[in-house]
Amino acid sequence: MAELSTFLQKARRRRASWLLDHADAQRVAARILPRGIREYVDGGSEGEVTLERNARAFRDVAFAPRMATWVDKPDLSATVLGTPINLPVLTAPCGGMRLVHPDGDLGLATGAARAGTIHVASSAAGYTLEDIAAVEGPQWFQLYRFSSQATMENLVGRAQAAGYSALVVTVDTAVAGFRPRDYKNGFSYSMRVNARNAVKLAPQLLPKPAWLIRYLLDGLPFEIPNTAEVTVDGKPMVLTEMTKGGAGSHSPTWTDLDWLRAHWHGPLVVKGIITPEDALRAVGAGADAVIVSNHGGRQLDGSPASLAALPGIVDAVGDNVEVLLDSGIRRGSDVLKALSLGARAVLVGRLPAWGLAAAGTAGVERVLEILRTEMVRSMRLMGCSSVADLDPTWLDPETVPGHRTKEVEAP
Ligand SMILES: Cc1cc2nc3c(=O)[nH]c(=O)nc-3n(C[C@H](O)[C@H](O)[C@H](O)COP(=O)(O)O)c2cc1C
Repeated sequence: MAELSTFLQKARRRRASWLLDHADAQRVAARILPRGIREYVDGGSEGEVTLERNARAFRDVAFAPRMATWVDKPDLSATVLGTPINLPVLTAPCGGMRLVHPDGDLGLATGAARAGTIHVASSAAGYTLEDIAAVEGPQWFQLYRFSSQATMENLVGRAQAAGYSALVVTVDTAVAGFRPRDYKNGFSYSMRVNARNAVKLAPQLLPKPAWLIRYLLDGLPFEIPNTAEVTVDGKPMVLTEMTKGGAGSHSPTWTDLDWLRAHWHGPLVVKGIITPEDALRAVGAGADAVIVSNHGGRQLDGSPASLAALPGIVDAVGDNVEVLLDSGIRRGSDVLKALSLGARAVLVGRLPAWGLAAAGTAGVERVLEILRTEMVRSMRLMGCSSVADLDPTWLDPETVPGHRTKEVEAP
């Protein structure tokens, strides 16, 4: 058995080493995952306007490089809420990752730690928050309230006891965004792992035997173990049940934030901020950091691109809080653009999920290594020796969102 496990690990490492960039990781993930899981990861809400806007925003911004400058080893280190990291890229909280690969959240946390960065564990993870916290390395815990104050209190108390160093409160998920691809694939609220659904989903699952065998051996996980202590019947919620509307907000509200500020003894991060007004409100509620995010285009379709929203938010909050960003980061150059516009660090969601699908923990490590290599190469080409030096002067102002063309005076 031990030999089989070593063989599988070696095979995964080899497969991971073949990945060249994010598109490659996405392609391999698509080959391995059944359609329903692939589209759950890749998809966005409604018309996927915001999903597309995120990608376009990064594409449209151009660098203002400084040529003829030799940079030997660019410095990528940063400090986020007092924690030093070697790569200014955190792994974002993502529910359902154990469907992608049995390593799931443990693989994400291990991959982040090996890259010298922070993992943010999701409330909707496939492992308990205690199991994820046991992985060596800095970690934050992301909070949903699952429509109930009691659930929120339970999770916060356990996250504190488990040693998470910051609490990330996601505020953009009052109800689930409607993701048509999930609906069409049968990934809907009523879905449970049972014989009827197995028959219904057979055409999606059978062509993906490698995934199916892994999933069966892992015990068909389709639940949110963190919720086991708080449901009426003592059974954990299933993944597709969690975002049902109806019984109150799924995300904490501003009232909850007052409670959280009083009861969480550590840094508080508000995730899902997309306007300067809400950023200021988060500062007022005692946040130590905000994450400019539209949930990767999975919640309110029609939200601005996070990169477009960033400069206004950075201006509004000044030095009062740290500003991070996610939604749409695919390449090292995207990270550099966000940092140039004032983000202290970024988070990536789909990118490590694709790595995880392709090769488990080794795949997560590999996509983070690819990001690092891309950042280093781009910085050397730009003539930039440290991420600490990045500011808007590294970007072509004509291409920066919110830029107003200055009037040119005649000489
Ligand atoms: C499959 C998936 C599940 C997610 N689950 C959560 C979650 O449980 N909690 C949360 O705050 N955000 C969740 N998100 C959003 C991510 O934290 C992050 O905001 C987003 O993925 C960033 O965009 P990107 O995927 O383009 O990097 C999820 C995203 C994906 C793709």
